[in-house]
Parts: sequence; C-alpha cells; structure tokens
Amino acid sequence: MSGYVPDLEAIAREAGRLLMHYFARRVTIEYKGDVDLVTEADRASEKLIVERLQSRWPEHGVVGEEGTRSETDAEYRWYVDPLDGTTNFAHGYPVFCISIALARRDGQLEAGVLYDPTRDEMFAAERGLGATLNGNRLQVSRTKDLAESLLGTGFPSHKRHKNPNVHFYHQLTLRSHGVRRAGSAALDLANVSCGRYDGYWEFNLNPWDTAAGVLLVQEAGGMVTRFDGSPFRLDSREVLASNGLIHQELLHTFDDVFEGKYRYEMPGLPSEEWSLHA
Ligand code: IPD
Ligand code: CA
Ligand code: CA
Repeated sequence: MSGYVPDLEAIAREAGRLLMHYFARRVTIEYKGDVDLVTEADRASEKLIVERLQSRWPEHGVVGEEGTRSETDAEYRWYVDPLDGTTNFAHGYPVFCISIALARRDGQLEAGVLYDPTRDEMFAAERGLGATLNGNRLQVSRTKDLAESLLGTGFPSHKRHKNPNVHFYHQLTLRSHGVRRAGSAALDLANVSCGRYDGYWEFNLNPWDTAAGVLLVQEAGGMVTRFDGSPFRLDSREVLASNGLIHQELLHTFDDVFEGKYRYEMPGLPSEEWSLHA
C-alpha cells in the first residue's frame, strides 16, 4: 500500500505509545456529559496526532473529537478519534484504539488507519487499494447466514434512556451466535473488516468514530449502509456494516423491529413468575 498509509501508520504508532504510557499509570476521569468520559490521554493523543498531520499536510483540514476544528472548508479533511473506547481505557479494560481517516469535502473516504496498541494491530486502508492488518491483506468473513454469525454493537453515552438499541440487541441476539458489546465503535468496524465479526451496527455515532472503520470494511469487500439500506454517509449517525452476505437478513430484522413486530416479546421486569430457582 502506498500514498498516505506509511506516514499515517507512523503517526498512529506514536500516539499508541503515548496512550499505553497513560494506560499503565491510570488516569483521572473527567466528564463531558453524564457518562461521557474524557481523560488527559484523549487530549494528549489528539494534540500529538493533529500536530503531525498539520506538519505533514498543512493544506488539509482537521476535525478531532476533543475539539480540533481547522480549515474545515478545505477539500481534504482529517477525522481524528485520538482514543476510541475511553470508558474502557479509564477502567483499565484493554479495548481501545486510535482512528484517523481522510475524506474529501463531498464525504468520499480516501485513506484511514486504526491502531490497537494493546494488541499491536495496525489496520490500514486506502480507497481502491484494499485493506490490511499488520501488512496482510484483509477480507471480510464468508458467513452466509445470520444464524451462524457473530455480531457487534454499542450503546451511546448520551441520552441512553431514549436509545432503542436494546430492542435490536434482543432480536439479533436470538438470531445469531451472539452480539458482543466491546465499547469501541472503531474497533468494532475493524473487526468486521478482518472477519472476526460478520456484522455490526450502532446508533448515534460521529464521523471520527466511523470514518476509518467504514473504509476498512468497504476495502475488505464488505458492505456499509444506514438501517434502511441506503448508502452510508459520513454524516449518517447510524451505521450497519457486514460481510455483505448477511446484510439483507440484518436489514429485514431492522425493518421488523422498527415496525414494532416484536413489541410484546420483550421480557418485562422480573416478577414473581420468574422463579429464582427455575
Ligand atoms: C465511543 C465508543 C463506543 C460507542 C460510543 C462512542 P469514545 O467513543 O466508540 O463504543 O458506543 O457511542 O462515543 O467516546 O470512547 O471515543
Ligand atoms: Ca469515539
Ligand atoms: Ca474518543
């Protein structure tokens, strides 16, 4: 792979070393919202990544989760999540990554890297050139049936009481080998690109969560849409990614849940009927 990827990988590795330095020491948790966490590691990582991107590509814009907004009307724009999986990180749970992606003004994704420093896994993709994991070519899984799939999802930290995802979680858990909820949207997408997951969905995401991972899935031969099957766009808040083969089955399940088909199937609160000794 050529073009942007070698420089991006070097930047992501440097940020990964920085995150692991903070991870070893445990950091103080601050709150952006009720349960929306941020740490000094998020900010230090964003500062490092933004400095490196701006010095290498001064004509490009940068949008970072922790506040960076520069040259946002430039033709090329970087989307940076300096630490995806902050809640995991802050609790010492080793599932987090760095996500950096480049898009054109019209939203076309050009390149991206996603680095998991806990496993030393570097995912990279460039439009039209494929996707790699530690240099090896990636291909999505070949699982044909939802019933034999492993899926991932996530739950937002904002307005959790208004999020309907538990209904989708419930149905898809019953129809698959299981649904994992690991706490890093970017890594979830990377896990689809390398075939560990056969599908993944989530509500309420931001472009810095999705940009690199969506390109990885697409370049590894997978499919990414919104929940109604329309094409994913960077400003879509929802994402449904899969190996392509189980996409229709996932979309049907989404249709059914949105139409309220299983409204009365959801188990209620525990009651006396639920014997503790059953
Ligand atoms: C969060 C993670 C999580 C997802 C949340 C995101 P952050 O990003 O990706 O898996 O469920 O919606 O906000 O805050 O750790 O960068
Ligand atoms: Ca994120
Ligand atoms: Ca983040």
